[in-house]
This record gives sequence, structure tokens and C-alpha cells, in this order.
Amino acid sequence: MRARIIGTGSAHPRMHVTNTELAEFLDTSDEWISTRTGICSRYISTGETNTQLCVEAAKKALESAQMEAEELELIIVATVSPDNYFPNTGCQVQGLLGAKRAAAFEINAACSGFLFALNMAQAYIQAGVYSNALVIGAEILSKMMDWKDRSTCVLFGDGAGAAVVRAEERGMLCFAQHSDGAKGSVLSCRNRMISNHYVNQEYQAAGEPADHTHMEGQEVFRFAVRRVPEVIGELLAQAQMDKDEVDWYVLHQANERILQAVSRRLGIPMEKFPMNLMEYGNTSAASVPILLDEANRRGLLQRGQKVILSGFGAGLTWAGALLEW
Ligand code: UT7
Repeated sequence: MRARIIGTGSAHPRMHVTNTELAEFLDTSDEWISTRTGICSRYISTGETNTQLCVEAAKKALESAQMEAEELELIIVATVSPDNYFPNTGCQVQGLLGAKRAAAFEINAACSGFLFALNMAQAYIQAGVYSNALVIGAEILSKMMDWKDRSTCVLFGDGAGAAVVRAEERGMLCFAQHSDGAKGSVLSCRNRMISNHYVNQEYQAAGEPADHTHMEGQEVFRFAVRRVPEVIGELLAQAQMDKDEVDWYVLHQANERILQAVSRRLGIPMEKFPMNLMEYGNTSAASVPILLDEANRRGLLQRGQKVILSGFGAGLTWAGALLEW
């Protein structure tokens, strides 16, 4: 059996911030941000939590799947920005939805997180362990930014996307996923320093301040432009399909220039790459499922069409899946 997406949903915070509004307190401009990235605005939480966005997206996905929360057997939330160390976001969502039967947990594969989670759901379903799952990608990245660092904070946004999958004859055709931990330092955000009764003060004082996103933008750009075409090629080879047989390429929304470079490298027209980074910025694990939900609701995706999903980001990680919609 294969995991088939039978419902999608998404959610974002109320506050919508334009590039021009960022330029009111940062040395930046709409011109710089939009020409370098394609991003025009993003949603920023002024109180909405990761869990709240997950639950809103999940309820919409369940409604579109015409499934009750009580039927769910598995909930996986992909995020780098959970509300708590524990309990994990999956359990929070499970409790709030009343999905009593579901096992629930959280994974972190940064911007590839939704793909790793979806692929995991496929593996469980293929193995016959579960017959359905709720897969969510959700982020409140705004709390992890240095809001004085124009090179990072203008790029990211907050949001959540969810998909309900069910075991069916048709669905995910194949997946691929990779990691390169040796290059992890090009995109990182540290956790708390070790701090306890036995750690001396000098060690603690010597540590860098925690919790801001650090990115070597050009390194990440080069990585994405190389690895995304590779993983797409891998999926096509596994499925023994030609790139032209794929109807849609739903890729992580980091930068319009990355999407253009991938389209050029593979010789696939940009019309096959739906995009919403103009409105959302980069929402890490949430970007693929939010875009998928929009494409689904707009009627872009038709049953039987072939769709490639791909994510790439911190870890470094990159992943893809080829689906029959
Ligand atoms: O989710 C996956 C993770 N992220 C990505 O995929 C991001 C990949 N990388 C990128 O998208 C691009 O590298 C960026 C958009 C981050 C940066 O674009 P770039 O063309 O590589 O610019 P740059 O970093 O080389 O910076 C060029 C200039 C610098 O000034 P100088 O040194 O040339 O005087 C920066 O200080 O632009 C300056 N700059 C800005 N200026 C205005 C950097 N950020 C800004 C800003 N506004 N927000």
C-alpha cells in the first residue's frame, strides 16, 4: 500500500508584514529583498503559537479529507521551532484534536522536515504498521531571528501546513532523502549552553549567545541549486519517468532565484513550479505543505497527476517524493 494525500490544510498568523514595513527599522529596502529573493511579505506571530497553527492547519486538512480526528493512527510534526522542549508538538496537537488513538511525535530536519515526515509516514504505511497519518510542517521562525541582522530576518516567516494521508493502492510512488552533517555549520541555530551546578562561570561566559539563526547565504544557495536537481533526478530514475511526465514541482520556498536555477538546470518550465514565497517568505518545514494546500484548494492539482515535492535546508538535509495525486 502507498500513502495517498487525501486532505490538506494550512494556517498563518494574523500579522502580515511587507518589505517596506521592515525597512522602517532595518537598513534594507523592498528593492533589495524582492530582487534578490522574490519575497514581498511574510506572516509574523504576535502571539500565535506553533501548536495553535498546527491545530488550525490540521483541522482544515481533516475536514478536506472528510476524516475524524479519532480515526487518526499517527501524527508527525516537523519543526525546528517548537513551543516546548517537551511535551512534543505532535502530542500537543493530538491532545487538542482529541485524536486519542494516534501515536504522536516531532521530528527536526529543518526545511526538509515535511518531506522527511511524509516519507516516514509512507514507510509506516508501506510496512503495514499504520493505515493513516496526519503530517504537519509548522514554524514560528520569527522567534529565532536576530531582528537586527538584515541578512537573515527579512527572509523567514511563520506558518503551518498539514496533510492527511491514507493507505491506498495509488499514492506515493517513491522517495529519496539525504543528509550532510559535515556542512551543518552553514545554517545553524544553537540551543542553550550547558548550564548546571558543576559548570564553571568562565565556560558559560565564553559561550556565544544562543538562539539566533546564522546563515552563510551563498553556500546554502549553491548547495540548493546542486542538490535539488540531483534528488529530482533520483526520483525520476526510481520511478522510471521522464521530467516532462511530472505535472507539478512543489519545492521548498526559500528564494525565487533558486527555483529559477533548478528550472533552468533541469530544463523544466517555471510554470510547473507553483510559488507563494512572495506572500509567505521562507517558512522552513511549513513551506511545502502550505504551498501544497494552496495548489490543492485552487484546483491546480488533479487526481492522477504526478507531483514532485522537494525540500532542502539546515542539517544539511535534502529530500523529495514523487506522488500520484
Ligand atoms: O531554507 C533554506 C535556507 N536558505 C536559503 O536557501 C537561502 C539561500 N541563499 C540566498 O537566498 C541568498 O544567498 C540571500 C538572499 C540570503 C543573499 O543574497 P546574495 O545575493 O547571496 O547576497 P549577499 O549575501 O552576497 O549580500 C550582498 C550584499 C552585502 O553587502 P556588501 O557586502 O556587498 O556591501 C550584504 O550586506 O547585500 C547586503 N545585504 C542586504 N542589503 C539590504 C544583505 N542583506 C541585506 C538586506 N538588505 N536585507
